[in-house]
Parts: sequence; C-alpha cells; structure tokens
Amino acid sequence: MGTKTFRDLTTFRVGGQIKHFFEVKNQKEVVEAISFAKKNSLPIFILGGGSDILVSNDDYQGVVIKYVGESIFYAGDTVTPEAGVVWDKLVEETVNKGLQGIECLSGIPGSVGGAPIQNIGAYGQELKDTFLGLTAYDIEREKFVTFSKTDCQFGYRESFFKKPASWQKFIITDVTLSLKKNALPEIKYDSLKNYLLERGIQNPSLIQVRAAVLKIRETKFENPKDVGNAGSFFKNPIINEEKAKVLIQKYSDIPCRLQEDGNYKCSAGWLIENAGWKGKRFGGAQVSPRHALVLINPEGKATAKEVKELAEKISGDVYKKFGVKLEPEVQYIGFN
Ligand code: EPU
Repeated sequence: MGTKTFRDLTTFRVGGQIKHFFEVKNQKEVVEAISFAKKNSLPIFILGGGSDILVSNDDYQGVVIKYVGESIFYAGDTVTPEAGVVWDKLVEETVNKGLQGIECLSGIPGSVGGAPIQNIGAYGQELKDTFLGLTAYDIEREKFVTFSKTDCQFGYRESFFKKPASWQKFIITDVTLSLKKNALPEIKYDSLKNYLLERGIQNPSLIQVRAAVLKIRETKFENPKDVGNAGSFFKNPIINEEKAKVLIQKYSDIPCRLQEDGNYKCSAGWLIENAGWKGKRFGGAQVSPRHALVLINPEGKATAKEVKELAEKISGDVYKKFGVKLEPEVQYIGFN
C-alpha cells in the first residue's frame, strides 16, 4: 500500500490522488484488500491497465485495487494469463508460439484483466472470438467464481461487467483463451489486407500480421507512452437502416458497415472529423489531429473536466449536424 495518483496509473494521465492503493498478486491478497475496504466501509475501485478510463481530478477517498499477478499458463492450445499480464505481451508471446486468434489485437494498451470488460476489438477480431472463461472474485458474495463466455454477455465494446449492476463488483484474476495451432491468420479488414498487399505479402504469417497491425496503429494513433489518451473515446454508433440510408445518400463517403442484425455501424471518427472537430482544442484537452475518435492530453495538462466538456461539445455538435448520438466508450470515474 502507498500513495499514488490516477494520473500516474492511467494512459490519459489525468486524475487525482488515491487514499488507499493496493497491488495484489494472488487470491489471498485479493481477499485481504477487500476485507480492509469492507472493515473501513470504503468504496472500491478496481484498476486494470488504466487505458480505458477518464478519472476526475478530485482525490479518491476509497480503496483502489490493481491485480498485478502476471504468470501465463499453457495447456495445449488454451492459454490462461493472469489479469496483470500486459495485453500486448500476451499477443506477442502467443504469436511467437504460432498460436492464432489474437494477432489482430496487437498493440492494444491495457491489461489482460481489462480485456473482457469491454470485449476489446480491432481489425475484425474481438476478444469474445477466442474467449473460453475467466476467474473473478465476487466482492459481494466474498468468493472466487468462474464465468463462461455466455455469462460474460459480450457485445460491441460491452460485457456483463460494464452493466451498472455488476460494475466494480468483480475482480478478474485470470482469463482463458482458446487459440489455434497452425491456423492461418485472420484478415477480415480490407485496410489490413491492402497494407500487406502493398508490401507484396499475399500469405502473411502471424508474425507478419502482428507487425502490420503494429505499424498501422503507430501511424494512426498517438502512443500513450508519449501523448496521454485512452484510445477511441466514443463507440462507433449503430443506427437503423432508414437513418443510415439517409446519411449515405447525403454523404456518399461516410463509412457505414451493415451488421448481421440489419443495423449499420457508422464511423464516429468520420462524423467527428466532418463536424469540424479534428485537432480542435479545449483547455488542455484536444481532439487528436491524426484520428478524430481519440481525445488526447498533449502537454499532460488537461483536467478531467476539460476532457469531459470537450467530449460533450463534440457529441452535441455531431447530433446537431448528423442526428446521430455518440456514446463514450471510455468509462467516467469519480464524477458526480
Ligand atoms: N475516419 C475518419 N476520420 C478520422 C478517423 C477515421 O474519417 O479522423 C474514418 C476512416 O477513414 C475509416 C473509418 O473512419 O474509413 C474507420 O476508421 P478506423 O479504421 O481507424 O477505425 P475506427 O472505427 O475509427 C475502430 C476501433 C479501434 C480499432 C480500429 C481498427 C472502436 C470504437 N474503435 O476504430 O479500437 O483499433 O477500429 O479496427 O470500435 C479502441 O477501441 O480504443 C480502438 C482504438
């Protein structure tokens, strides 16, 4: 236990001091941290890699718990990393072992424990495609429980754990994925396929797909190591066919993809850019000049309030101009 700030523990580099910070690395330490919080009637916040949250600058009076165990267990084609493993380390290691299934998820910041919360996804792959189950500590019932894929209720950047009734109620300690040995990499997105073809690669290996995804991300996104950000700030909005047809007729270049359920997922980045917000600043916060879906903290001086207000201005304006509601993907913490 020690003093820490959310600013040091999040990729946005925003957020106030933490009164009680616990790094725990096994089941016994999880139970001890929870019993400390309960004995002192303190609220609990569970932190992963801190890469998908915007935390208020107010001091946090409760207990923050971060699971840091980082072993990785293999059994045939299934892999069970502990929640504290850096997500991209897991991708690197499994790709190097020739295990297919998460190669397109290369370069995503954050920890293994955070991955199921928002069902991370990129270039046509999602965590749920390889997910088998996870172990978590149920804070209310005070016992370790297992979740199947169905239990997790995965959706687009959604899961059971994001629902208000279960938010901050479970500490994920490990995740099990079912990968494939000697399977070909998955290349569903044209942007990825074209990137490889332009470099003369027709039948890429897993390692080549990983390298390509890392390169694309490097040019498209600010690296949170250099510039504070939390990846896509908003989700891509899902709209019905009627609304989509109107938009597509009016704006022929708007990227909208037909979904299995007949609705359309449209690019929030395009909407934000075409509403004129790309690169725009508000106080210390800024819309990324590279990718309009990302809000950044360019000099490390942004306050949480500025980021939130910028996000609200953007969604208000996009709604006014296109009639589409943008929902944050990032979770707001400590705002009342
Ligand atoms: N676009 C613009 N202007 C911009 C940015 C994008 O017009 O400033 C257009 C692009 O030209 C493209 C379309 O929007 O036609 C889609 O852009 P991109 O391929 O960059 O993907 P995205 O839909 O913006 C999603 C995920 C990313 C993931 C990429 C790649 C969400 C919310 N975001 O972004 O995930 O890496 O696809 O698959 O689904 C994250 O969740 O934090 C994240 C980074």
